[in-house]
Amino acid sequence: MPFTDHLKTIDAQHNHLRKLMDYMCQESCCQFPIDEQLAGLDDLINQFHDHFEFEEAAMKTANYFDISGHRVAHRNFTKLLKHFRDQVTESRDPHEFRNIIELVNRFAVEHIDVEDRLIKHHLLPLYANIPPFHEESNN
Ligand SMILES: [Fe+2]
Repeated sequence: MPFTDHLKTIDAQHNHLRKLMDYMCQESCCQFPIDEQLAGLDDLINQFHDHFEFEEAAMKTANYFDISGHRVAHRNFTKLLKHFRDQVTESRDPHEFRNIIELVNRFAVEHIDVEDRLIKHHLLPLYANIPPFHEESNN
């Protein structure tokens, strides 16, 4: 698969995850039984896991310069998600759940807008035979 196709899939996954988190942040979701909300959070964790695996494999294919740094960001985010899940599993408070999902949403959107955007900025010019933005000329 060419890397530009990887990027299209990554964009589609980001959009899907954003919609899912927006849905989970809605006030009306507080009406669902807490076990259903926790099952939704487990599903979200699994979907992030699959997305991170795909994104890391795509970065490897394209020899991205900071795969290990990006991987650490994914691992930290996953740890945070699991910590939040354990917290709500303990409290069983739907309002705490909603606050947590809003926080998760903010973390995820920031990661997508900042760190994931760097992948595109670094790699797309390589595929268009244009020097990446961060490389300085040796002339
Ligand atoms: Fe990422």
